[in-house]
Amino acid sequence: MAFPTTRLRRLRRNDTLRRMIRETRLSPDNLIHPLFVCPGRGVVNPVPSMPGVAQLSVDRVAVEARAIHAAGVPAIILFGIPERKDALGSEAWNDNGEVQRAIREIKEKVPGLVVITDVCMCEYTDHGHCGAIRGTDVDNDATLELLSRAALSHVRAGADIVAPSDMMDGRVGAIRSALDRDGFSEIAIMAYSAKFASAFYGPFREAAESAPQFGDRRSYQMDPPNGEEALREVALDLEEGADIVMVKPALPYLDLIWRVKNQFRVPVAAYNVSGEYAMIRAAGINGWLDEERTIMEVLTSIRRAGADLILTYFAKEVARRL
Ligand code: PBG
Repeated sequence: MAFPTTRLRRLRRNDTLRRMIRETRLSPDNLIHPLFVCPGRGVVNPVPSMPGVAQLSVDRVAVEARAIHAAGVPAIILFGIPERKDALGSEAWNDNGEVQRAIREIKEKVPGLVVITDVCMCEYTDHGHCGAIRGTDVDNDATLELLSRAALSHVRAGADIVAPSDMMDGRVGAIRSALDRDGFSEIAIMAYSAKFASAFYGPFREAAESAPQFGDRRSYQMDPPNGEEALREVALDLEEGADIVMVKPALPYLDLIWRVKNQFRVPVAAYNVSGEYAMIRAAGINGWLDEERTIMEVLTSIRRAGADLILTYFAKEVARRL
């Protein structure tokens, strides 16, 4: 029935009516808050390109984790900035590394919080690439062993979920069998499945001190124009045992969140990355956008596209508002 019988404005007349027919809801349950752990004690080291975000030492991370939990956010994801870097990134599997100590501290102080760890080599290697280098490129199969070691070390420290973000072929399967072999078959894997070689990671590389020292990540991260290939990445990760699949970044790839959810019907995460955060913060600071409304619109749209979970640096403040 068309106009004048049908008038869609009838149910938009006031906030109560709008609330009653709202199709998509954002809940704190959907959010995962990223944190950067750095060496030292009492350290709060602000990240210039991410106003409101700081690198935190283990003691400070535990305090922040408690605040995030108190706001109602169920989970955090940890990134480590190690004391020293080397060619293989060996600090990644140091059982006394920053991330491992942070996990133990958080598990003791905030036991109800789900602890996810990012599993990648780029924060730990002196060349800044996501794996072992052979010639001028990352050696895929040699890197699988390093990633498995890092994942195992995180899980031994108490991590609930590991999240490989390196984009090597076969890493979900390699990590799955390493975990199962050591008796950790109950630990879930959240795979960064469709992770694109994106300009939006710029601020993160400052936060994690992980910018590649030569070349770029285009030989392992996905080419932004490719949608079909993203679906193949997701299919492979699921076959290898991924429990949650991720699309990253979120906003420029809403179409893929939608396609992944509709094709596979599995838990889907989307990463609202550092550049997406920085854009909104910068416009907010300048008074060019209403920050609060922009954040809610963006995160709700990522949910509407089909994401069950959103990794976002806005998680704590949004959960408080909800
Ligand atoms: C590590 C990793 C990156 C991000 C998450 N894990 C950076 C990269 O791939 O260069 C980006 C997160 C963000 O931009 O917020 N490989």
